[in-house]
Amino acid sequence: MTDGMLPDVLDDAVVAAWSASGAPLVDLLRQARTPGRLTGFRRGGRAAVLVTEPRHVHQVLGVGGDRYVKRSHRARPLIGDGMLTATGEAWRSQRRLLQAMFTGRGIQRWEHHIVAAADRVVVRWAERARRDEPTDIAEDTQFFTVDTIWRSLTDHPLDQETYVDLAAVQDIVAALPADVGGSAALPPDVETALAALDERMHRAIAQARARHSAARRSSDGSGSGPSVLDRLLDAAETDPAYTDRLIRDELVTLLVAGYESSARTLTWAFVLLDRHPDVMERAAHDPRAVEAVLHETLRLYPTGWLLPRHAPVDETLDGWRIPAGTDLLVCPYLTHRDPEVWPDPETFAPERFPARTPLPPGAYLPFGIGPRACLGTRFAMREMETLLGALLSRFTVETTEPAGEPVFGINLRPAGPLFARVRERS
Ligand code: HEM
Repeated sequence: MTDGMLPDVLDDAVVAAWSASGAPLVDLLRQARTPGRLTGFRRGGRAAVLVTEPRHVHQVLGVGGDRYVKRSHRARPLIGDGMLTATGEAWRSQRRLLQAMFTGRGIQRWEHHIVAAADRVVVRWAERARRDEPTDIAEDTQFFTVDTIWRSLTDHPLDQETYVDLAAVQDIVAALPADVGGSAALPPDVETALAALDERMHRAIAQARARHSAARRSSDGSGSGPSVLDRLLDAAETDPAYTDRLIRDELVTLLVAGYESSARTLTWAFVLLDRHPDVMERAAHDPRAVEAVLHETLRLYPTGWLLPRHAPVDETLDGWRIPAGTDLLVCPYLTHRDPEVWPDPETFAPERFPARTPLPPGAYLPFGIGPRACLGTRFAMREMETLLGALLSRFTVETTEPAGEPVFGINLRPAGPLFARVRERS
């Protein structure tokens, strides 16, 4: 930041020291944070502004949601032109198409899928309990969230082989170059994983299309099918934008956006509950307590811990000049630890929810806010409440080793597996 247009600017020497230390970005942001203010700094030759104050967050993502845009996503080579990376009119029409499927009413069509996927995990845990074997909660919750998303996309339960192909997306994303548009070749095993994923998606599209036209022939053609894929195939009949390529991109997007965050949130919930057995007991008997646990987990560990935006033209934010080209780093992780809004912010206290007085706009945003807020909020909450409620009401859970350190990657997750001993409640 050279022209001093912001009140707080982090010295270049601090950024250089951070960069030399190899520490994660969150460490730099912690140093940059000045309560109540915007802080500017230069990173890799680019101007950046840290945005943590709720009213600033509201201005950038909420009211300014159409002006501060997403930069090209690192995962673009994987998710192509799906809803997460699309912008402008293309994004608007893609979002409009699927929006209705993901409202509170819309997700009712997937209630049976969510319940069936949760039952599978319950059966797995019952087996573990019987054999007195520890289970890996990180793996179990991940299988569950891939299963729910796959069922809602295709109307089919997940099998183990498909799971392996689909869950590889996180290794593919991790292997993609951080500099968007970089043309470095991918390692051969990542290329193979990508090919397997594509093959899986195209097969699902072909099967759904065959089913779809058979259903069309045997019905009066009214109403759309039950799965996301059916909805996309419907759209393809009237809108040439929906090529097989875009349908594939949308499926992969929903997979990438839709399983890891929910799985990691569930894992974090178990990490926190393990440290608070009294809360675990309450949640075992009260669905409202389960919901509060999830909200508080998302406050402390919002998996979307950093939501970057970009100002394509000169802007003014809270009276300060933001030159074109500046990155705006909205950081829910830091915003959620603001002591002005959350007394004793480091403490896990689910009784904060539901909030007794309305929270200031921009103060709580695990699912983002504004036009690009999470499409899957209702779906995610429903699936997480269902699984957590089902498991806690039937089993006691005790981890066998401490949870790994938080990893601030694309998602915020605990490092490594989370092994726990589960026992049937008597
Ligand atoms: C606990 C679970 C989840 C969390 C914490 C979460 C969080 C978020 C956040 C913070 C964003 C906004 C990103 C930004 O503003 O840059 C987002 C976007 C999105 N999420 Fe989620 N998400 C979750 C689950 C899901 C699920 C289950 C689905 C799909 C079924 C989903 C689909 C999407 C999509 C498609 C977008 C992009 C929306 C757009 O750009 O218009 N998410 N999510």
